[in-house]
Amino acid sequence: MTTTKLVYVIISFMTIAVVGVGFVGLVTAAVFSKFGNTVWAVNRDKQKSEELKKGKVPFFEPGLEELVKENVDAGRLKFTVEYPEAIREADVIMIAVGTPSAPDGTADLSAVFEAAQSLAPHIKTGAIIIVKSTVPPGTNNKVKEIIKIYTKKQFYTASVPEFLREGTAVEDTLHPDRILIGANEPFVIKKLLELHRPLNGETVIMRPESAQLTKYSANAYLANRIVFINQISDLAEKTGADVQEIIRGMGLDRRIGLHYWWPGLGYGGSCYPKDIKELTAYARRVGEGDGLFEKIDQLNENRLLKMLSKFEKAVGGWNGKTIAVLGLSFKPNTDDMREAPSMKVIPVLTAAGAAVSVYDPQASGHAKKILGDSVATYAANPYEAVKGATALIILVEWDEFRSLDLAKIKKNMTTDAVFIDTRNLYDPQRIKEAGLKYVGIGR
Ligand SMILES: NC(=O)c1ccc[n+]([C@@H]2O[C@H](COP(=O)([O-])OP(=O)(O)OC[C@H]3O[C@@H](n4cnc5c(N)ncnc54)[C@H](O)[C@@H]3O)[C@@H](O)[C@H]2O)c1
Repeated sequence: MTTTKLVYVIISFMTIAVVGVGFVGLVTAAVFSKFGNTVWAVNRDKQKSEELKKGKVPFFEPGLEELVKENVDAGRLKFTVEYPEAIREADVIMIAVGTPSAPDGTADLSAVFEAAQSLAPHIKTGAIIIVKSTVPPGTNNKVKEIIKIYTKKQFYTASVPEFLREGTAVEDTLHPDRILIGANEPFVIKKLLELHRPLNGETVIMRPESAQLTKYSANAYLANRIVFINQISDLAEKTGADVQEIIRGMGLDRRIGLHYWWPGLGYGGSCYPKDIKELTAYARRVGEGDGLFEKIDQLNENRLLKMLSKFEKAVGGWNGKTIAVLGLSFKPNTDDMREAPSMKVIPVLTAAGAAVSVYDPQASGHAKKILGDSVATYAANPYEAVKGATALIILVEWDEFRSLDLAKIKKNMTTDAVFIDTRNLYDPQRIKEAGLKYVGIGR
């Protein structure tokens, strides 16, 4: 005889408010609405809000526009510029505003504090305010102090740092490696466990300070791997070794692993540069300065110009030459230009007298807004970009650049053309056989 057990799972949907609709805020809002919660996303820009209501996402992130549209149409995802409308019913409020570097390198937390001040008067009793933005330990206490100025209602704070990567942000949010719940009160922990239950990732409960420092530690460790392998690349070049062979030889050691080795021009993007700078400053603030983080930052800062001077020698000077740049965003599958290598490389080339022609599958529009129309020629594809060029520089490993028609590239470039592969996408021998001079990193 078999017995059938009926298991009832009680799902209680929540009302959530997300403050800030950038990469983190918008993806988070869309994913939590997909699970059946009602999500209000608050933003300061009315036009952006109106576009989002129509399901139009202002930046490129695979799968996001469909997800936003689906949940807007289902009535679960709502956009507003009015804090009272978004906050008054919210059980959980997530602060996901930017924390860029201030001129002295510390994290500029003004948007977090401004968000806390704006939401505070409208919270309901028992609301939980989560800081998702990357902030140094101790920030939650300041957020608490600010909110207390504007309300007498009882509320809680927690830290749930975000680990998504642009380019795979939706997937990363749905299937995170881990979810850190930085909270002290059992009520908050229970509620946040319930909220995150539909996500496919291991949940770790910890102190808010640990959660905040874990986020910086993870980014600093990954940035450190990039700086480390760049140092090894420089040694490889001096000795006739190939860094790609070294990566394989080293990475097969299970303590080290084969993933996340990126020799190149150094780390860039929206997070590592600012987070390493803040961690350096934080270490100094607590009396632990002059250490590893400072060195990581410094080595990375010097990296790009050092590599450009190596490339310049290989090309025989930039002056009077046409140089094609492939890849403008800071990494593939995004049009985010924050700390993108192209934004430093192109001005160096033009200042040295080169004519620059560029191509990117998604980011040309954003690049044009930053660089202007006249700094570079914007091509429709890689082959148009390399026409008459003496060198091509691959800056970003977009899939499209992994399988270029080398014969067509060679035909469109000058006879003495140099193929500069800053992502080590190609076998140097193949490029030489195509009649081009190969310059890579650490090989
Ligand atoms: N982008 C990433 O890959 C990533 C990954 C993990 C963590 N983070 C962290 O998440 C945070 C947000 O990063 P992001 O990349 O989404 O930034 P972003 O610049 O894309 O978005 C921030 C948004 O906040 C809005 N904003 C600022 N102040 C506001 C206010 N007072 N009220 C309402 N909206 C306000 C801005 O207009 C903007 O839309 C940062 O701390 C970042 O370090 C980012």
